[in-house]
Amino acid sequence: AMAQDTFKIGLILPMTGPFASTGKQIEAAARLYMAQNGSTVAGKKVELIVKDDTSAPDVTKRIAQELVVNEKVSVLAGFGLTPLALATAPIATQSKTPLVVMAAATSSITQASPFIVRTSFTLPQAAVAIADWAPNNGIKKVVTLVSDYGPGIDAEKYFKERLLFNGGQVLDSLRVPMRNPDFAPFLQKVRDLKPDAVYVFVPSGAGAALMKQFAERGMDKAGIKLIGTGDITDDDILNSMGDVANGVVTSHHYSASHNSPLNKKFVAAFEKANNGLRPNFMAVGGYDGMRVIYEAAKATKGAGGEALLEAMKGQVFESPRGPMFIDAQTRDVVHNIYIRKVEKVNGQLYNQEFATIKDVKDPGKTK
Ligand code: DHB
Repeated sequence: AMAQDTFKIGLILPMTGPFASTGKQIEAAARLYMAQNGSTVAGKKVELIVKDDTSAPDVTKRIAQELVVNEKVSVLAGFGLTPLALATAPIATQSKTPLVVMAAATSSITQASPFIVRTSFTLPQAAVAIADWAPNNGIKKVVTLVSDYGPGIDAEKYFKERLLFNGGQVLDSLRVPMRNPDFAPFLQKVRDLKPDAVYVFVPSGAGAALMKQFAERGMDKAGIKLIGTGDITDDDILNSMGDVANGVVTSHHYSASHNSPLNKKFVAAFEKANNGLRPNFMAVGGYDGMRVIYEAAKATKGAGGEALLEAMKGQVFESPRGPMFIDAQTRDVVHNIYIRKVEKVNGQLYNQEFATIKDVKDPGKTK
């Protein structure tokens, strides 16, 4: 097809390395969206170009540059980790190419370029909700344990502020390296401090190792609860975590067991297309990102640049996560945050939502 007849989406993801599950989930969700909604939009053939950045920021940036200059993509999308999105932001600004963040979740990302739109979530959205829940449920003294980079710092800061405001106490704030973390010495420190709970943020995929070490050290048996944002009980790996995960309470915007007809349909179709793989919050960020791109392209009749960006702002729709919209001022996602407890459903572990905080804007944007 000729260039004018195609609408190209450059999807840059970690497809190999420690964060490959994020890439796998998002690519599968994008392909599902296209299978369900057709591969033409505004009379143009949609071409999805998937590239592996191996989760190295300089690689993400270089690939984005090549996709803009050589492939003339209308949209850059994906961005599995905060540093990958931040490194690429200048390319979006300079080339006036809309950049849809489907995974990364540090609050400040949307401020790195006026061309960034986010369909994932923000850590402050999730962190504040669990800091409201905890002190009303017997958890007053907490040690925080986060991955030492953007989303972890956000998760720590917004949790801590809100817990203190609610009369709770943070006994210590521990930060573990983002890459190849050894949780053992940090968990030992937590054990020695004897808090009511340890509050955890680790990126998608890292939760299984932490849970395993938490169990091996007998921390649950010692009466220390584990709470966190839902990144720790990630649906991609939750079912393999075993009994230690059962009963863990977290806050997040998506659970594969979210009770709506649209989500049931989404989960069934995703599992069917991917050998039974359960979609996680990354998949939903990718699926909804494709929705935002398709609807914007329809509105501009396939034109890109600033017109396409404008058509992404203010979109309101039902996602598998529940109602959601793209705030036109901040270009960030607004959605419900749910409090969930891991429970066995038909022998499988799921995050069962039991309370809803409606229409949560990013608290990071009001500071
Ligand atoms: C980010 C990555 C994750 O895997 C996650 O669960 C949350 C945030 C990030 O790098 O922004």
